[in-house]
Formats: sequence, structure tokens, C-alpha cells
Amino acid sequence: MGYKTMNCSGTEKNIIAFHTRLSKRQENLGKSVVVVFGKIILNTGNAYDGMTGKFTAPEDGIYSFTWTMLTAPGKYFNTEIVLNGNIIGYNFVDGATGSSHHSSGSSSAIIKMKKKDEVWIRTYGDNGKFAYENWSSFSGFKL
Ligand SMILES: *[C@@H]1O[C@H](CO)[C@@H](O)[C@H](O)[C@H]1NC(C)=O
Ligand SMILES: *[C@@H]1O[C@H](CO)[C@@H](O)[C@H](O)[C@H]1NC(C)=O
Repeated sequence: MGYKTMNCSGTEKNIIAFHTRLSKRQENLGKSVVVVFGKIILNTGNAYDGMTGKFTAPEDGIYSFTWTMLTAPGKYFNTEIVLNGNIIGYNFVDGATGSSHHSSGSSSAIIKMKKKDEVWIRTYGDNGKFAYENWSSFSGFKL
């Protein structure tokens, strides 16, 4: 019996994963507007577009996404994750009027995608009132 050392550098090339943050604060975005996470920390496979805020599946598969929004006292920032414009999940964060505390909310979604399908975060109705840069993030990867 024995074992063979595997070289993983070949499979690593196929990894699809991204991690981003808001590069600037978002205020009064309007109805169903794309939230663009402009600070890209990781983008293996280049599937996330930091200009449009959209993730495009490079191949068929199951993908996992997580996003977190931090809002300010008296403000709120409610969002949806959509697949080609169809709602998959929601995230609610309300900074309780009058409080001096900040609130953040996180959600995740596991989504079956076909090659070229798109996923993005957008405002829920006209509820994108205020979200902080740095502390709001969006990430995902292919299982
Ligand atoms: C692993 O594969 C890469 C790319 O083919 C190669 O450059 C590297 O030398 C290999 N490493 C080992 C330990 O075999
Ligand atoms: C985000 O980071 C930048 C650069 O470090 C800093 O200037 C800014 O104040 C930060 N914003 C928040 C809300 O932490």
C-alpha cells in the first residue's frame, strides 16, 4: 500500500470564488436598483463584475452566495438576491429610528445556475436608504 502525492495546482485553476465590499456608501438608491460592490478582494475566475455588480456563471452548477449590509441609526437597507431578475432571497436591515446603534443583516442563497446566468443584489422596492462602505459585503463561490 502507498499513496501518491496529488498536484492540486491544475484543479485550482477551475475555482470560481469572489469576495467584495462596498467601496462607497449607498444612499437613496431607488427601486430595484443593483447594489454595486466595487471593492474586489478576490475574484478567482473573473465571474464578478465590479462595474455592473453582477455575477455571471462561467459554467453550469450550484453556487453559494452571502451578503451583509450595515445601515445607520434611523436608516434601512433592504435587499433581494435575484437570478436573471427573479427573486431568490431577501435581506432586511433596519437601524431602528432613535437608536444610536448600527444594525447589520446577512443572508445567503444557494442557487442552481446555467452558464451565463446572472446573479446580483438589488434594492427591495425603494428601500435602499443607507448602507456603509467597508462593512457591507457580497461573496460567493461554486460548490
Ligand atoms: C504542479 O503542476 C504545476 C503546473 O502543471 C507545475 O508547475 C508544478 O511544478 C507541479 N508541482 C509538483 C510538485 O509536481
Ligand atoms: C472605510 O475605509 C476607508 C479607508 O480606510 C475609510 O476612509 C472610511 O472611513 C471607512 N468607512 C467606514 C464606514 O468605516
